Amino acid sequence: MDWFKEMSFYQIWTRSFSDGNGDGIGDLYGVYDKLEYVKSIGVDGIWFSPIYPSPNADYGYDISDYRNIHPDFGTLEQFQKVLNKAHRLGLKIIMDLVVNHTSDEHFWFQESRKGKDNPYSDYYIWRDEPNNWDSLFEGKAWEYDEMRGQYYLHLFSKKQPDLNMDNPKVRQEVKDIMKFWLDMGVDGFREDVINFISKREGLPDGIPFVPAIGGMMHYKDGPHIHEYMAEFRKVAERYHAVQIGEGPMTNLNSAMRYLTGDSKSLDMMISFDHMMADCLFTEYVNLPFSLVRFKHAVSRWQTALNGKSWNVLYLENHDHPRIISRYGNEDFWRESGTMLAICYLFLQGTPFIYQGQEIGMTNIKLPTIDHYKDIASRKNYERFLSFEPPEKRLHRVHVSSRDSARTPMQWDNSKNAGFSPVEPWFYVNPNYKEINVKSQQDNYFSILNIYRRCLALRKKSKTLLHGSYREFYPMHPTLYMYERVYEKIHYLVICSFSEKKQTVTLPKEYQGKKLQLVMYNIAGHEDGSDPVFTPYEARVYRCRFD
Ligand code: NOJ
Repeated sequence: MDWFKEMSFYQIWTRSFSDGNGDGIGDLYGVYDKLEYVKSIGVDGIWFSPIYPSPNADYGYDISDYRNIHPDFGTLEQFQKVLNKAHRLGLKIIMDLVVNHTSDEHFWFQESRKGKDNPYSDYYIWRDEPNNWDSLFEGKAWEYDEMRGQYYLHLFSKKQPDLNMDNPKVRQEVKDIMKFWLDMGVDGFREDVINFISKREGLPDGIPFVPAIGGMMHYKDGPHIHEYMAEFRKVAERYHAVQIGEGPMTNLNSAMRYLTGDSKSLDMMISFDHMMADCLFTEYVNLPFSLVRFKHAVSRWQTALNGKSWNVLYLENHDHPRIISRYGNEDFWRESGTMLAICYLFLQGTPFIYQGQEIGMTNIKLPTIDHYKDIASRKNYERFLSFEPPEKRLHRVHVSSRDSARTPMQWDNSKNAGFSPVEPWFYVNPNYKEINVKSQQDNYFSILNIYRRCLALRKKSKTLLHGSYREFYPMHPTLYMYERVYEKIHYLVICSFSEKKQTVTLPKEYQGKKLQLVMYNIAGHEDGSDPVFTPYEARVYRCRFD
């Protein structure tokens, strides 16, 4: 089962994608109308971030009903229409499976609170005394519930109680939820923080005085994780569904256990390593971008998974600020946006493109913390209250907030960026007049059209899809160069991460060879023989080795 290997996906965060019913909130009517656009990018599938009913404490990642659609987004019937149309267009659909926790407004939790005799009593993790774990979002990981007279565990916000996966009934619920969506016709799942679902027996204390992650060793890749994952795998296999796990803090070794061998339970794992080239967790410590760090992370995963498993390729999603504002350069917006596309779309794996990434949307800088909606941004602003002055904390939010990925999609330069006829639920980035889909549709060198051409090129080439990977000059601070090889056909990808010109020396084996330039991002550079790369220039050469 590896139909996903030659595909690429587009991630839709529905609330900010397109408002089809005119209430200021993106919805499935808007998605329905934009499916041709999604298809035009050249992707083969869509991952929907959660679109289920939710009180939105964590914008959909706090689910109150797993078998329905949030009324803001439409109905199950409308979802079925989207699904059918997507399938007609040749687009697969994968859903977000969020089962580490539910919303506290979920019926199960409301019942569970009622007491120990309740049939849902053991659906959650209740204790008389909390341990010392922190929540990843706010304060301690335990909240006292008056009605039950006990504390419940919440690794995320207190409105996201953790499910007790050790309870076979809970695992059965998960399998039933999977079946519900698979029977409807969806093609797989992205599984939220799936490496956190099995907690160590007895819930021992974690490392004291380590904020946020002190308890993680007792719930990351926990004792029964692979047994539980095997149960879910069986369901997915029956439907030939793809399973993509999100693995915060996963290192390569532990990821391999999910991806290979007898314990294989996932087709791909979303790694975070390459997203920490400018930070230690986006919201905690911001560092200057290090290309060497980025390349090191990418190369490790590329090399380790070659022939054994498959990579998720991504630079953005709803949890990360915009990539041009991080690893690129807003002053070289088009150049760095296209270079970043070229730099990752030719790696080995399945590319994911997050809405707006394909047109180079950038971070938004809102004037005060009160303008932000994301719980993680707001709570982290508070977390650093006693250490940092407000300007510094606001700066941290500007560079790291997940809200930068959640501003409304910029369709054109009309009011509200063409996202909605009325005032949108969240701020539109004021740069929408320049950065929007419409202005890029017909421009050959636009970010949008480079994404399109890269995806098309990738699809046509066995080397780019399945070839091996080797990096050159790993310690070079401003140049990323790698080759992909399949039989005699080589591709050499060269990306400049510099705002200055730089001269590039080809690796020995390519010198004197006939190189065909098959992708480039700078107009007038089609010759491809100049060793000098202009700021953020990227080129891809094809070469036959006989
Ligand atoms: C990972 C999701 O991607 C993120 O948006 C969410 O806040 C946490 N998991 C908790 O569900």
